[in-house]
Amino acid sequence: MSSYRIEGGAVLRGDVSISGSKNAVLGILAASMLLDGPCILENVPQIADVQAMLEICETLGAVITPLGTGMYKVDPTNITSHEATHAKVKNIRASYYLLGAMLSRFKKATMHMPGGCNFGTRPIDLHLKGFSKLGARGTDASDIRDGIIRIVADRLYGGHVFLDVVSVGATINIMLAATRAEGLTTIENAAKEPHIVDVANFLNAMGANIKGAGTETIRIKGVPVLPGGYSYSIIPDQIEAGTYMIASAMTRGDVTIHNLIPKHMEPLSAKLIEMGFSIEEGDESIRVSIDADKKIEPANFKTMPYPGFPTDLQPQVTSLLCLADGLSRMHENVWDNRFQYVNELQSMGADISVIGRVALVNGPARLSGSNVVAMDLRAGAALVLAGLVANGVTTISAAQRIDRGYERIVEKLSALGAKIERFDDDDLECARPLAD
Ligand code: EPZ
Repeated sequence: MSSYRIEGGAVLRGDVSISGSKNAVLGILAASMLLDGPCILENVPQIADVQAMLEICETLGAVITPLGTGMYKVDPTNITSHEATHAKVKNIRASYYLLGAMLSRFKKATMHMPGGCNFGTRPIDLHLKGFSKLGARGTDASDIRDGIIRIVADRLYGGHVFLDVVSVGATINIMLAATRAEGLTTIENAAKEPHIVDVANFLNAMGANIKGAGTETIRIKGVPVLPGGYSYSIIPDQIEAGTYMIASAMTRGDVTIHNLIPKHMEPLSAKLIEMGFSIEEGDESIRVSIDADKKIEPANFKTMPYPGFPTDLQPQVTSLLCLADGLSRMHENVWDNRFQYVNELQSMGADISVIGRVALVNGPARLSGSNVVAMDLRAGAALVLAGLVANGVTTISAAQRIDRGYERIVEKLSALGAKIERFDDDDLECARPLAD
C-alpha cells in the first residue's frame, strides 16, 4: 500500500509528456491474444493495470518479452488456455476483453468476473448479449454463479448487434469476438472513444478487416488468420493529458502538455476556455495558462460518451470547480455512483452538495490539507489536484489506486514544481486506515 504526501501552494510551470493510453493498451493487449504470430507494442505506459494484464496474458501461454522502456514483444502463438482465472483478473476491469479474444480464438472462454473501480454497478449484459448474436451461449448476465463466466460457441458467425447503451467495453469486446468470426458483423450505437479506434487500428495493422471504428456503426469482416508480425504504437492517454491540463489550471500555472492529440482534448479545452483559461494548441501539445488578474468562471458540465465530456475527467474537473468564482454543476450521466470522492474533498473545505447524479459546487473554496483516501483511480487524481492547491499538507492513502492509471505521476508533477512524495504506508503514522 502506498500514500502520497503533498505540500500545497506550488504554481506548476514547464513541460510534461503524456504516456500511452491505459484504456487503449489494455484492449490492445487482449486483442493481441487473437494473433497467430508475434507483434511489438510501443509507447506502452508503465502502470499497474498494464503489468496486471501482461501477467494475465502470460498465464494464458503468451510469451511477453520486454524490449526496453514501454516496448514489448507479445507472442501469443502458443496460447493453450482459454481460461482467464488468474487472481489478477479480479483486479482490473479490462480483463473482460479476454472473453471476446478467447471466444474468437478458441470458440470458448472462461473468466472470473472482472474488477476495476467501484463506482456503482458495472454490468456486462451487453457484452454477453453481443456474443450471443455471434452464436455464443453460456453464462447469463443475471446469473453469474461463483463469479465465473463461461461461454462457448460451436461456430462464431457474423451478426447484427445494437447496443441499447453506448458501452466502451461492450464495443471493444464484441469487436474482438467478431474479428475471427465467419462473415460480417455490424455493431450499431457503438461507442466512439479514441481508444476504440486504437484497438481497431491495431487489429487492422495485424490483418483484420474492421471499418467504421470511431463512428456509431462498426463493420467487422471476420478473417480466418491474423498473422501479426508488425509493430504498433499506442496513442497518447486522453485522460492523463486532461489531468495535467487541469493541474496547470488549478495552480494558475503555465504548463505545456506534450505528446497528446489536441482533437481528443476538445471536450475539455472548450470548457477550460469557457472558464477563462488560455489554451494554445500545437500539433501534438496544449499549453494551459490564465492571466494573473482573471477569475476562474463557474461552468456546468455533463459527462457523455465521446465526443462528449469524458466521465473519466469528472472528478478532476470537480476539484477545479471548487476554485471557480460562483456555482457550478457537474452532471454524471454515465455512472450511477461516481461522487464517492466528494466526502474527501469536503474534508478539505470544498463546498459541494450531491443530489442524485448532480454535484453542485460552490466556490471559490479555500482548500486545506487533510488525510484523505483515494477511493478509485480518478477520484485519487482529483485529490492530488486538490492537494496541489490546498493550504498545508495533504496525505492521500490507497495511492496505489492512482498508480493503476498514471505513469510516474509523482515524478512528472515534481518536475513541474509540485511538492509531492510517495510513501509506503508503514512509513506513515498519519495515514488513515483504508476504507477496504
Ligand atoms: C470504460 O469502462 C473505461 N475503462 C472507464 O474508465 C470509463 O469510465 C468507461 O469506459 C466510460 O468511458 C476501461 O476502458 C478499462 P462502459 P467500461 O461499458 O467499458 C453501462 C478509467 O478511469 N453498461 O462504457 O466498463 C454501464 O453501467 C475507467 O480509466 C451496461 O449497462 O464502461 C455504464 O453506465 C473507469 N451493460 C455505461 O454502460 C454493459 O454490459 C458505460 O459503461 C456494459 C456497460
